[in-house]
Amino acid sequence: MAVLFGGRSPEHEVSVLSATNVMAALDPQKYDPVPIYVSREGRWLLSRFEDGALARPSTGTELCLVPGGEGRMLAVVPHGGSSDAGRIDILFPVLHGLHGEDGSVQGLAEVARVPLVGCGILGSAAALDKDVAKRLLKAAGLPVARSVTIHEGAVPVLPDLEEALGSPIFVKPARQGSSVGVSKVSGSQEFAPALVAAFEHDQKLLAEEFIAGREIECSVLEDSDGGLFVSRPGEIVPAESHGFYSYDAKYIDADGAAVKVPADLPPEVEAEIRKAAALAFRALGCDGMARVDFFLKPDMTFLVNEINTIPGFTDISMYAKAMAASGVSYGEVIDRLVEHGLA
Ligand code: DAL
Ligand code: MG
Repeated sequence: MAVLFGGRSPEHEVSVLSATNVMAALDPQKYDPVPIYVSREGRWLLSRFEDGALARPSTGTELCLVPGGEGRMLAVVPHGGSSDAGRIDILFPVLHGLHGEDGSVQGLAEVARVPLVGCGILGSAAALDKDVAKRLLKAAGLPVARSVTIHEGAVPVLPDLEEALGSPIFVKPARQGSSVGVSKVSGSQEFAPALVAAFEHDQKLLAEEFIAGREIECSVLEDSDGGLFVSRPGEIVPAESHGFYSYDAKYIDADGAAVKVPADLPPEVEAEIRKAAALAFRALGCDGMARVDFFLKPDMTFLVNEINTIPGFTDISMYAKAMAASGVSYGEVIDRLVEHGLA
């Protein structure tokens, strides 16, 4: 099993945390995982998992997958040439964001004819683009937050956005995860810096209405026969000091957020959210796995916020926790994902 981690997106460090946990959870009796570090430039370098840590080499054996090669890998020899590096049976991308969670690596697996853990090309691409994802969710009758899509070179003025969405608004890159480049805008002095921060990551942005609500998340896992298992919902409680569930609240500040699994919800609300998670998964053409994130308003109505097809597997991440609270252990999640990939 080749486990890809790191990657070209700003969620590079998050991926390292996720992959470290995935490597530790892989049963050595069943799997022979080979970690491959994807550098920030996108090179694939042979890594090692030793004493609970993943090596991040900057030089060494560079690898590539052979098109049509059913998992055949080549090691690139410096100054020209290559040598056979063996065959892998399955590719497990533990990459977040662009160039990993967006269908690109999934397409590479398809071209290389190697089984893949997790979601395929279409679902990955649709879920990563929040603008496209919202349109598909809406078409499926699922409630989403109101938003305006902003393209570089055609930015609306703030009063127009506030008229459509109220105030404050959130400005976020359309294709980015872990709240990288996301700002809350409460007045005109905050608008220009928010645009700069978001355009640093994408040419397409979303201005979104602010939803005062609880953050509820559900894990979805597809069986190899196509049935969906939806976990009990969990809740993220960001610390007041962070204002929203930002990158820092997620990964930098140890007290940035508390995770509550299962979430304390009336049974009928829990049932509705789990049903909506399955619908959202299907609406975006997902397969394999995804985590569906919701906002739950004080009146107990909810919105689908977004879908992550390679959800975080860090210590604070919800996917595995919500599965465990639903009776599916970390090891079993991995076994099922592999089974699904090989089916
Ligand atoms: N994008 C991060 C990794 C998550 O949603 O968990
Ligand atoms: Mg996310």
